[in-house]
Amino acid sequence: MTEPDKRAAPLLARFGLASEHAGVCLGPGQWRGGGPAIVSQNPANERSIGMVKAATADDLAAAIASAQAAALTWRDVPAPRRGEAVRQFGLVLREHKDALGSLVALENGKIKAEGDGEVQEMIDIADFAGGQSRMLYGKTMPSERPRHSMREQWHPLGVVGVITAFNFPVAVWAWNAMLAAVCGNAVVWKPSPKTPFTALAVQMLANRIVESLALPPIFALAVCDNALAPSLAADPRVPLVSFTGSSAVGRDVARTVAARFGKTLLECAGNNAIIVTDDADPDLVVPAVMFGAVGTAGQRCTTTRRLIVARERHDPIVARLAAAYAQVRIGDPLDAATLMGPLIDAAAVENYRRALADAQGAGGTIVCGGKVRPGPGHWVEPTIVTGLSAQCDVVKRETFAPILYVTPFHALDDAIAENNRVPQGLSSAIFTRDVRAAEAFLAGSGSDCGIANVNLGTSGAEIGGAFGGEKETGGGRESGSDAWQAYMRRQTNTINWGRDLPLAQGIRFDVSS
Ligand code: UN1
Repeated sequence: MTEPDKRAAPLLARFGLASEHAGVCLGPGQWRGGGPAIVSQNPANERSIGMVKAATADDLAAAIASAQAAALTWRDVPAPRRGEAVRQFGLVLREHKDALGSLVALENGKIKAEGDGEVQEMIDIADFAGGQSRMLYGKTMPSERPRHSMREQWHPLGVVGVITAFNFPVAVWAWNAMLAAVCGNAVVWKPSPKTPFTALAVQMLANRIVESLALPPIFALAVCDNALAPSLAADPRVPLVSFTGSSAVGRDVARTVAARFGKTLLECAGNNAIIVTDDADPDLVVPAVMFGAVGTAGQRCTTTRRLIVARERHDPIVARLAAAYAQVRIGDPLDAATLMGPLIDAAAVENYRRALADAQGAGGTIVCGGKVRPGPGHWVEPTIVTGLSAQCDVVKRETFAPILYVTPFHALDDAIAENNRVPQGLSSAIFTRDVRAAEAFLAGSGSDCGIANVNLGTSGAEIGGAFGGEKETGGGRESGSDAWQAYMRRQTNTINWGRDLPLAQGIRFDVSS
């Protein structure tokens, strides 16, 4: 084991965690984990945060069985009472925002402000879900038959499997788990093996709520190697699998779940563009691109990866951005002056290196950045590449790194076509003062993404809207709006309160009795 990061133990202690810990939890006090040890490292210095005993296939199966039993009790608890439990979880999160935000920064490498922001998203979704628990509305419909009524109801599904990525190690679980819980389900969480301790910390807080309110153990955790994810996807006791990660793995998960007629909620790759028209306000464009492309070291699925700029504005915007990039403080994520932390691991650095080699091979020009910095830690420079459009393979793929491809456009239609030319369809934005350009971008013939913004960037969405995207992003929607419906099954009810049995469509089927 590498040398420990001295900041880890006191932070872990805030959650009642030791630096060697079981990785599977079936509920308060029910910890296990007979699988291999996973060592968690701070990506900023490669020092150890601790060691987690991962799940075996049996441990995972036990977590699913436990959640299934819990779901049977939980579904009978009135939804507003389920909401009250989630509301109280939000209060516990408020108490631990600082510590959990710091632990996210330590284990994931995002800066402290963004770590705290992620915990704020958890708090926001807990509040949202608490209210939603009183609004699991179904519709009523007029029946075509006399003295008949029709309605629909929403019922719990059972167990929801939640597979999350390293880049939002706690918020994405909360988007899923808070809504799944108010909808009457239990959750089995498989976090990224790159960020096990943030998951353990969240589990400790969830256990506190489960214990203090004497709930059935609706939140289960199984830290495991990615090789076990197919077992979760294949398990018929898990009617819904919510997956966040690459499109390649998402495709496999979708196939496995579909083969048993389960449901999936997929949040896969993004390749998000900002269009800048000739009249756009540069004082908005530059900070939006900075946060979108450099923030989180380019490791959000909503990261701005492409900038499509009106031809006459291309060079001045690139120059202003390059000047701003030079100011970015790269360093320890827990230092308040830092704007960009490290990438998650050596493989991510290798992907960055390979993308830039491919970009140069395709004729692209590196305007600024472009270098890997010496370790320890997985450091790269935020990078701007010009001269490539989405005709080019490297631009079409999602490289989880701070690389921004800038390309000029002549006519707005071409810019929108360029926005849509990639296989992914998560987030998009336009900067313009022209209402016609903005509306063209938002129209059915405009951006093909699940998220389309005007005069703000592609990342940093609020929880109140439905979050997700089209094409290889996977089509799922999480968090706000009516995304709760994904966690329930719909049932249509027709009730005959008359003394006859008329058939629909006016069919006569007379039988003498
Ligand atoms: C992700 O990167 O997986 O809109 C989620 C955002 C955040 C969520 C990103 N609210 O950037």
